[in-house]
Amino acid sequence: MIPPMSEKPSKLKHIAIIMDGNGRWAESKGLPRTAGHKKGAESVEEAIDAGIEMGVDYITLYAFSVENWKRPETEVSALMGLLSIFLKRKLSSLTKKNVRLRAIGRIEQLPIQIRKLLVETVEKTKHNTGITMTLALSYGGREELVDAMKKIALKVADGKINPDEIDNETVKSHLYAPDIPDPDLLIRTSGEIRLSNFMLWQLSYTEMVLTKKYWPEFNKQDLFDAVEVYEKRHRRFGEVKA
Ligand code: FPP
Repeated sequence: MIPPMSEKPSKLKHIAIIMDGNGRWAESKGLPRTAGHKKGAESVEEAIDAGIEMGVDYITLYAFSVENWKRPETEVSALMGLLSIFLKRKLSSLTKKNVRLRAIGRIEQLPIQIRKLLVETVEKTKHNTGITMTLALSYGGREELVDAMKKIALKVADGKINPDEIDNETVKSHLYAPDIPDPDLLIRTSGEIRLSNFMLWQLSYTEMVLTKKYWPEFNKQDLFDAVEVYEKRHRRFGEVKA
């Protein structure tokens, strides 16, 4: 067991997770892929509870990418259904646990009912002061940068931004959730070693911990273990430090 983050000098504030392997988990058990997503939704709760126990401030979950729209219609519907159930059933427990829900991505592409539920849940939890759980939905890292560039270009055209003054801070402040600090730790399950278009700007100096476990079998202890690995890392941010 690892001590709560608040007792550590360099507090781990933000964990991002690429929840991968739902389909393979299901197939390995002779179940339909959607059964993997259903079980994966339970691991989401485990991750939130572990984050709360450790005193982490932010947890960001890659729940549905822009590329995921190309999956078979049945799978997309099943994922949207799970999201809808999660939002309907979990509001009271999110509130009880003082969780603030946020979302990043091209939210406008989600079906209208899900979008409404999402906006309502985000609104109803916005004063919660515990962990912030951000769902990346219809999300792509390149798309986020394209959207930021469009917003910046409009301001340049309006004379509100001087192109010579565009810097890292300008880009950061036009991302979907500019106030959320960059992830300290990225976890990817299922043994894959790639970013898959996830938080391309924000992950520049993030430590990565990869596990072979499929997401549906990922539990609280796995998250504690990943944090323990992170804690042993020496973060230099490109500098030379003692
Ligand atoms: C990747 O596994 C996972 C997804 C595309 C969806 C993640 C969704 C959930 C964990 C459940 C719903 C989430 C919430 C917040 C209620 P994959 O299908 O790509 O697995 P594979 O690589 O083994 O095929």
